[in-house]
Amino acid sequence: MAKTEEYGLGEFAFARGWFMIGTADEATRTPSSMRYFGRDLVLYRGESGQPYVCDAYCPHMGAHLAKNTTSYIVRDGEQMEGENIRCPFHGWRFGPDGGCNHIPYSDFTPKAAKLRFYPVIERAGILWMWHDPEEGEPDIELANFGGHYGEPGWVEWKVDYMGDLGVHPVEIIDNMADFGHFTPIHGATDWQYFANEFKGSEIHQYYSAGHRTLTANPDDMLVLDTWYEGPGFLQSEMAGTFDSFIMIANTPIEEDKVRAWHGLMVKVHDGSRETTDEDRANALAYQEGSRLAFAQDVEIWANKRACLNPLAIPKDGPYGKVRQWYRQFFHPRAMTAEMQARSNGLHVTLDKRVDKSAA
Ligand code: FES
Ligand SMILES: [Fe+2]
Repeated sequence: MAKTEEYGLGEFAFARGWFMIGTADEATRTPSSMRYFGRDLVLYRGESGQPYVCDAYCPHMGAHLAKNTTSYIVRDGEQMEGENIRCPFHGWRFGPDGGCNHIPYSDFTPKAAKLRFYPVIERAGILWMWHDPEEGEPDIELANFGGHYGEPGWVEWKVDYMGDLGVHPVEIIDNMADFGHFTPIHGATDWQYFANEFKGSEIHQYYSAGHRTLTANPDDMLVLDTWYEGPGFLQSEMAGTFDSFIMIANTPIEEDKVRAWHGLMVKVHDGSRETTDEDRANALAYQEGSRLAFAQDVEIWANKRACLNPLAIPKDGPYGKVRQWYRQFFHPRAMTAEMQARSNGLHVTLDKRVDKSAA
């Protein structure tokens, strides 16, 4: 499949942004190996509870920090100390500032021994990592992620792993503009409105139509505000049979391989009573409906060839603008304002709403 350069997205192979790297229970006191952004990484949880991600290979002589079970460092339980991680090969110990802070057989620790750590936040049961080719601090807030997680009356999501798909993540982002796929794939009916709004690092999709997978009755309308804050995760406020909140995360493993997850939380009551097992069963059933709707897209992505240039017709929706918006994350930060100015604005693909005030 095609690489970032072939899509003409920018000079960085992987986008700058917050990306899901797993669910909260995956970070433990036992370091584990992961691969994202074309890099081998290690995930662990410090004694304080804070999750950490660092590069997998020790700067001393290149041992993998998590792939070891036989070193006495590991067998004697000496690998993890406080927030630090110790290499199983010669026992050099590294802290979250990336510095080497102890060597068992030397009083001297070289400044050059630096292990790269990445900013990590745990929110709404999900681990998020900041990826930045320029190695800068986050310039997009994750502050509001999680919608109604923890609010009374809402049943929290159980995150669904959707697979490792052999596509460039841009093809998932394309879906934001993809008006034409909703009726054939998802069974959209009775279209009222479809538009995209580009606002800096955010993109919104406004959808108002019926939906054969997500509405209980054929006549019910589904009204969605779906948006990305940066390149890595979609959120969606959905008014339908239940009020619900969706998240879909995409994280590149390689340039042409992306891991996807889905989660949905449901408002089962207004918070004035206890949540029952029946509420939870209803919420799970609704999440499953949403997962199945997303799986309809996933099946396409898992089997398609790369689409470097959509053969688009005017009624397709603004793929070109979506890809233009997405390019900002593959360019140096210094160019962000200029890139955003090229995509900012509202694009209405379809509007059949009746203006009652004018009648
Ligand atoms: S390779 Fe890690 S301490 Fe030597
Ligand atoms: Fe879709």
